[in-house]
Amino acid sequence: MSNYHIKHLEEYYQVYRKSVRNPEGFWEEIAEEHFLWRKKWDNVLSWDFSKPEVKWFEGAQLNITENCIDRHLATRGEKTAILFEPNDPKEAAQHITYNELHKRVNKFANVLKAQGINKGDRVCIYLPMIPELAVSVLACARIGAIHSVVFAGFSSTALSTRINDSDCKMVLTSDGSYRGAKTIDLKGIVDEALESCPGVKNVLVAKRINSDINMVSGRDQWLQPLLDNASEHCEAEIMNAEDPLFILYTSGSTGKPKGMVHTTAGYMVYTAYTFKNVFQYRENDVYWCTADIGWITGHSYIVYGPLVNGATSVMFEGVPSYPDFGRFWDIIQKHKVNQFYTAPTAIRALAKQGAELVEKYDLSSLKVLGSVGEPINEEAWHWYNDNVGKRNSPIVDTWWQTETGGIMISPIPYSTPTKPTYATLPFIGIQPALMDENGDELKGNQVDGRLCIKFPWPSMARTIWGNHQRYKETYFSAYENKYFTGDGALRDEVGYYRITGRVDDVIIVSGHNLGTAPIEDAVNEHPAVAESAIVGFPHDVKGSALYGYVTLKDTGESRNHDNLRKEINQIITESIGPIAKLDKIQFTSGLPKTRSGKIMRRILRKIAQKDTGNLGDTSTLLNPEVVQEIMDNVL
Ligand code: WT7
Repeated sequence: MSNYHIKHLEEYYQVYRKSVRNPEGFWEEIAEEHFLWRKKWDNVLSWDFSKPEVKWFEGAQLNITENCIDRHLATRGEKTAILFEPNDPKEAAQHITYNELHKRVNKFANVLKAQGINKGDRVCIYLPMIPELAVSVLACARIGAIHSVVFAGFSSTALSTRINDSDCKMVLTSDGSYRGAKTIDLKGIVDEALESCPGVKNVLVAKRINSDINMVSGRDQWLQPLLDNASEHCEAEIMNAEDPLFILYTSGSTGKPKGMVHTTAGYMVYTAYTFKNVFQYRENDVYWCTADIGWITGHSYIVYGPLVNGATSVMFEGVPSYPDFGRFWDIIQKHKVNQFYTAPTAIRALAKQGAELVEKYDLSSLKVLGSVGEPINEEAWHWYNDNVGKRNSPIVDTWWQTETGGIMISPIPYSTPTKPTYATLPFIGIQPALMDENGDELKGNQVDGRLCIKFPWPSMARTIWGNHQRYKETYFSAYENKYFTGDGALRDEVGYYRITGRVDDVIIVSGHNLGTAPIEDAVNEHPAVAESAIVGFPHDVKGSALYGYVTLKDTGESRNHDNLRKEINQIITESIGPIAKLDKIQFTSGLPKTRSGKIMRRILRKIAQKDTGNLGDTSTLLNPEVVQEIMDNVL
């Protein structure tokens, strides 16, 4: 019997030890018992990080959509697979059953084939969070086409770069999208992007907002009539274990975006197993991840992980602030959500609105709360725990990356005791290592270093599309025989990990290594502070000094900034020490953020360093306008 579902801490340690002592044996057992294979593997794992080359379940044949859909039809055909909650709460939610999903995916797959898409072709998906997005992802997988989903908030330039990098033949989009009270002309963005994408021959357009759009003849077609005429039977293409499943772009610190390539069997096994355990998913639970499918979180934990487990996965089209800031809580109440997975930036935005809005709703269905995307600061952690979870739903702070495919460090709820701001323990099968400046591994506990992974795991990205050399240089060259994450982390006295942030955010002040996250935690403790970001700037005596950007809560009353600065530094002194005091504190109406909600510290660092000659591309930011405001008021 394999340990597919961990239920207490002792069991976690037992299974963890087993997974590390004999990784091949462990993953073979998981793979044997819980998936549908057309042919089993000849070899569980072969790897060489110096190339790097990693192969899991080589020789196996499968189709991931048979695992996501077909396999469930006999027992869960009428169960809701995807629960679609529209932008407008007055529009009815859609319960798409496994039977229905089967038909829709097959029809879509047949349309793709009829349009000339073959196994191995790349298809770019630029769709809002509507059912067609999930269906088209699965339709590609059904026929072995490689999907490349581009988040529908990206600009036309960002879109064309990604289309060209992976030579997509086709683009799937919609006539537009809803975002709160606004509509967005997605098709217009696609038209603009395609002016520089000669390889795209076909564009299929889903109808969402019924806008009157321009259709380019010979290139653009409405999707619905094609679907109406397509057969609802489509044999799944038999894929090899290491065939690419998808490409997903992630931005590096330099250069063009990296198309991370994920393959089929290992990705399926790992996302399914992590989903089951990290969210303690039980049959009939309703699970909701608020991410967009345009990010890895949505690929792994809205679509693939949940569906392989036969789960009900909520897909939300809208934004947390529409029609008001109670929308998330309203959806949890309405659909009796059991597992809720969101990002610290959303938690902070909602916390800023006060707890009264949360209290209006019945959130008693909740069992597990998740956090992902950046370190969750202490204040946000407590707010989430107290007001959303009522101290009754464990928080799983899940650390992972686009490159890792699945969750790497996380508590297992109801097993691992949580600790604010700690992602806690490595997931089953994950072997982290902390490295010092000399490239040596730090052994033992209470150490602080650079986070690496020293053994392959099934869902790791296999390469960067079209640039294996860059893959090697970025991830496998900093430390010999290890995958380097780019993050710093510390391990406490019991072996819990706390991610301290990207290592390029580390600031050395008077020879002291200071992570920005704990300082930001301290700043955020001030009752007037909403959010903060700390960067370094050059200092004559200290080498580097700290510059803080701070946004204040909307309380309506005006505050004396000099007093606030003193109070903030007093809190830092108390929680970390005078060494971490901020030399400069600039109050601003907002912080520049990426569309996925990450604060762009790179830009803030340059402004603080008065090095604004080349800020890089700010057009893909969520709020490019704050950059000018911050530059105008720099201290
Ligand atoms: C980077 C990866 C994984 C899906 C979303 C982001 C940071 C992610 C955490 C966390 C601290 C986190 C890391 C990582 N990060 N989760 N729980 N605690 N930091 O994917 O865009 O590829 O970003 O996000 O710095 O390296 P991504």
